[in-house]
Amino acid sequence: TGFITLDPGYSNTGACESKITFIDGEKGILRYRGYDIEDLAAKSTFVETALLLMYGELPSGERVARFREQLTDQQLLHENMRNHFEGFPPHGHPMAMLSAMINACGCYHPELLDPEMDDERLFHAAAILMSKVCTIAAFAYKMTSGQRVEYPDPSLSYCRNFLHMMFSRPHRRYEPTPQVVKALSRFLILHADHEQNCSTSTVRMVGSSGANVFASVSAGVCALWGPLHGGANMAVIEMLERIHQGGESPRTIVEKVKQKKFRLMGFGHRVYKNFDPRARILERTARDLLATKAEPDPLLDIAHELAEIALTDDYFLERRLYPNVDFYSGIILRAIGIPLNMFTVMFSIGRIPGWIAHWYELYHDPQKRICRPRQIYTGPAQRAYVAVDERA
Ligand code: CMC
Repeated sequence: TGFITLDPGYSNTGACESKITFIDGEKGILRYRGYDIEDLAAKSTFVETALLLMYGELPSGERVARFREQLTDQQLLHENMRNHFEGFPPHGHPMAMLSAMINACGCYHPELLDPEMDDERLFHAAAILMSKVCTIAAFAYKMTSGQRVEYPDPSLSYCRNFLHMMFSRPHRRYEPTPQVVKALSRFLILHADHEQNCSTSTVRMVGSSGANVFASVSAGVCALWGPLHGGANMAVIEMLERIHQGGESPRTIVEKVKQKKFRLMGFGHRVYKNFDPRARILERTARDLLATKAEPDPLLDIAHELAEIALTDDYFLERRLYPNVDFYSGIILRAIGIPLNMFTVMFSIGRIPGWIAHWYELYHDPQKRICRPRQIYTGPAQRAYVAVDERA
């Protein structure tokens, strides 16, 4: 095994070439297809950014309009898909439902499971995935909270339709403010891709065996669920709420983190070592959104206080740990009214275009090989089998 290099967590292994997303972790730069994330967050829409990631170029107005139509066509779930919800326990986690339902989508589109894929079929699959995840997520929320589901409204934009399905009630239509729509759109844009993170690498790993796009993306959702990845956005708010309810002060939390009792959620990143540009934009967005609300959110002040203590502490400075995308995103989701158990689902909705873009890039990659890492075996050498009645 002398020629195998051990690289736990693949921090030093380039597993593919990619033209999709560029990150400079020292300078805090993030670009999708060459466009700075700040520009996209300020000027683009989520649907346009999704096309940029999957298509490689900023799309024409006509292309966006056509894709929006495809998205609208895919808003409804097949009645049998809707019935799947009845089978989940009422307090099942929406991430489990999302992953299962995405995989189930494949059953309803056998024509897209064919190993042959081209641009037209890919955009059809992308419209199904991007549109249905909104309906699935909103239905999961309504059903787990004992409410009647709201059907999609084809006259609304992507973000507005999602907000409608989440928050309209019988005879009480939800009308979001423009600031809420903008904040949601920005949240989704900022989560849309992040090169070879755990869930995207999972999508590529699954896709490398030739598995279809629904199966691969559904695996990505499972990978995202963990608290070290997308699940961190939920863990941050749980931590801030604990502080707010008087459980512990920010200083005590930081001390415990330094004693390695637990990690400071929403802090640290494998690639960003000076700052995460997404965290900066989201912090601003959280402040702007809260300024439009009648009630301030005390959790934002607590987050600021926690960050200030951490950012002047040697433990964090030596290890180059800074707020990441998950540190402020939960405050925005709370302000929009998204319940805590849906936070990681929101991250998934944002990441769908990135996962699809990577799946398709891999599909066309002439260097593609099945992902099959090696290992360094550390178990016992050969042993003689012992019959059960002779074992000590
Ligand atoms: N709090 C306290 N210590 C930390 C943290 C943290 N959040 N992150 C890293 N460290 C320490 C770690 O204990 C280690 O210390 P030592 O050298 O003394 O053993 C050192 O920093 C290096 O950590 P690592 O585990 O080798 O770093 P990594 O690149 O493997 O992990 C990470 C990256 C994001 C998983 C990690 O920073 C972490 O667990 N953060 C908290 C969870 C989180 O916020 N995740 C969201 C990541 S960004 C968006 C996303 O992917 O969803």
